[in-house]
Amino acid sequence: MKRLEGRIALITAAGSGMGRAGALRFAAEGAHVIVSDLDETAARVVTDEITAAGGTATARRLDVSDLEALREVFDWIEAEFGILHVLYNHAGIPGASGLEVTPEQYEKAMDINLRSAFFATQYAVPLLKKAAPHASIIFTSSTSGVVGSPFSPLYSLAKGGITVFMKAVAKRLGPEGIRSNAILPAMIETPMLSEFFGRDAGADIESLKADFAKKVPLARAGSPDEVAAAAAFLASDDASWVTGTALALDGGLLA
Ligand SMILES: NC(=O)c1ccc[n+]([C@@H]2O[C@H](COP(=O)([O-])OP(=O)(O)OC[C@H]3O[C@@H](n4cnc5c(N)ncnc54)[C@H](O)[C@@H]3O)[C@@H](O)[C@H]2O)c1
Repeated sequence: MKRLEGRIALITAAGSGMGRAGALRFAAEGAHVIVSDLDETAARVVTDEITAAGGTATARRLDVSDLEALREVFDWIEAEFGILHVLYNHAGIPGASGLEVTPEQYEKAMDINLRSAFFATQYAVPLLKKAAPHASIIFTSSTSGVVGSPFSPLYSLAKGGITVFMKAVAKRLGPEGIRSNAILPAMIETPMLSEFFGRDAGADIESLKADFAKKVPLARAGSPDEVAAAAAFLASDDASWVTGTALALDGGLLA
């Protein structure tokens, strides 16, 4: 079943992990995917994978913390496609751990995790309106965006902002036929998971992961494909009555 046939979808940070899996899944569902990432080579590898599988995609280098570059991507989408059906604000970083954070570390985390999603949404609205009522925004928040993380207060601050912003957007843009939802992943096996657990000097990443997995009712890590399946649902008309929802993809962590 191709639920995204003829749709145009932009995914940020789509060169790896869940973003990559989402790009492959959206393309398999029929969407033309704009695979954007800070790492242009990674974005190209993903578009090559999509093309090899019979789908269509375009690679774009995009550092989401660069607002001028972000704006340019939407100007380019306007010129190239004239419409956008799905905006998947996926980019994010763990940021510094603890509370001893410098202003520079604070700004970097906020720019990439939060400011980027705000402005991408603002820039996308005129294009999404043209796709209504088939328009959908998906935000990647985190379980740390609904319960506080003692390890990552800065990350919780940013992802909590994403979760509430998603709800505000659902209320504001719902009447325009644009849906807005968030995914709350936890413990998904990607390079970022190791980065997350490896922030403190001398951290034993594998034992920290194993300790965390013990808190997860399903007792394992999740896969990027499991997240992509949910993202494809939220992007599609199967979710036509779903907006303002924060969907936990956490193996039951928040239960
Ligand atoms: N992995 C997890 O368990 C987990 C849990 C909760 C939330 N998340 C969220 O998922 C998202 C990404 O995680 P992942 O696990 O798929 O990561 P990943 O490590 O597989 O990929 C991260 C990608 O982000 C790109 N990137 C980094 N900085 C960027 C920037 N400034 N602009 C554009 N792209 C940039 C990298 O080049 C890389 O391709 C983040 O928002 C993260 O907070 C992950």
